[in-house]
Amino acid sequence: MGLSEQIQEIIDDARRAVDAVASTAALEQERVRLLGKKGALTGLLRSMGQLPAEERPAAGQMINQARETITQLLEGAESALAEKELAQRLVDEKLDVTEPRQLMRVGVPHPTTMVLNEVLDCFIGMGFEVVEGPQVELDHYNFELLNIPKNHPARDAQDTFYIDDNIVLRTHTSPVQARTMLSRKPPIRIICPGRVFRADEVDATHSPVFHQIEGLVIDRDVTMGDLRGTLAAFGKRLYGDDTRLRFRPSFFPFTEPSAEVDLTCFNCHGEGCRVCKGTGWIEVLGCGMVNPKVLDMCGIPSDEYTGFAFGIGLERITMLRYGIPDMRLLFEGDERFARQFR
Ligand code: DAH
Repeated sequence: MGLSEQIQEIIDDARRAVDAVASTAALEQERVRLLGKKGALTGLLRSMGQLPAEERPAAGQMINQARETITQLLEGAESALAEKELAQRLVDEKLDVTEPRQLMRVGVPHPTTMVLNEVLDCFIGMGFEVVEGPQVELDHYNFELLNIPKNHPARDAQDTFYIDDNIVLRTHTSPVQARTMLSRKPPIRIICPGRVFRADEVDATHSPVFHQIEGLVIDRDVTMGDLRGTLAAFGKRLYGDDTRLRFRPSFFPFTEPSAEVDLTCFNCHGEGCRVCKGTGWIEVLGCGMVNPKVLDMCGIPSDEYTGFAFGIGLERITMLRYGIPDMRLLFEGDERFARQFR
């Protein structure tokens, strides 16, 4: 076979091989086979030394032309394959961003949390600091330092969860008052939200676990007028600017004098309705001037300082705020319930 036939055969083989190739990776293998060191064309080039000197230039030219032809074949195939592969990738990786999907459900804050945040906001705005205390509490802080005597009914195991003789689940947030007075110097202005516990049966207005928000202010010359002004601001913030408040004389061992505070009914604005049982008023909290005995027991000289305190039932004001008829709804954790108050 003459050289030109051999070259033609190599080119024909290259054409068939390149046509059959289906991927750029396979094409690279063909490139090595056809043009590499072990390829047929390179073989021919090597064997040129055996040709008579005068035939060599023509042979070299043919071989180089063949090399050029095959290179073009490979390049043509390469760009065609690359285009095909890109088109395939675009099909494979196609993402329909308009396809309707199940939206992720986003949670909502619980109504109790929303009211708590609003109350904290209100008092923080008046310069109060948020302080917390333990839920498992010593009798000493929960009762003793708050002037709650040994025979007081609140101490009964019927009302209080005892861990042992000295340790209880706190029955109110008031022990945080005692802890704060013992650890700080006046002026003190704190608000203490937290979970409290009482041995109550569950019903529409009772739960063995609920929340209170305690407030305490101690400084020189703090008066009941300051207490009233502070609570009036709180009432307006929570239930609207036309909310009024009234003090009713009451008793708490840790305050003297003590009062229970009613706000004008948010529902009828004082006219009298079902929510306020016809009175126009709704009871929302207990308060008073800190009993001098408590001040002294907690290391604050009662001849120098006075203070006021109050305790708000968080569930109660939440129910009033949103017209929730049954406290159990606040504890059941049904998200359909929580979603109503956004
Ligand atoms: N600790 C009281 C309770 O649990 C609520 C309370 C009333 C707190 C009057 C106070 C207060 O700080 O001054 O019923």
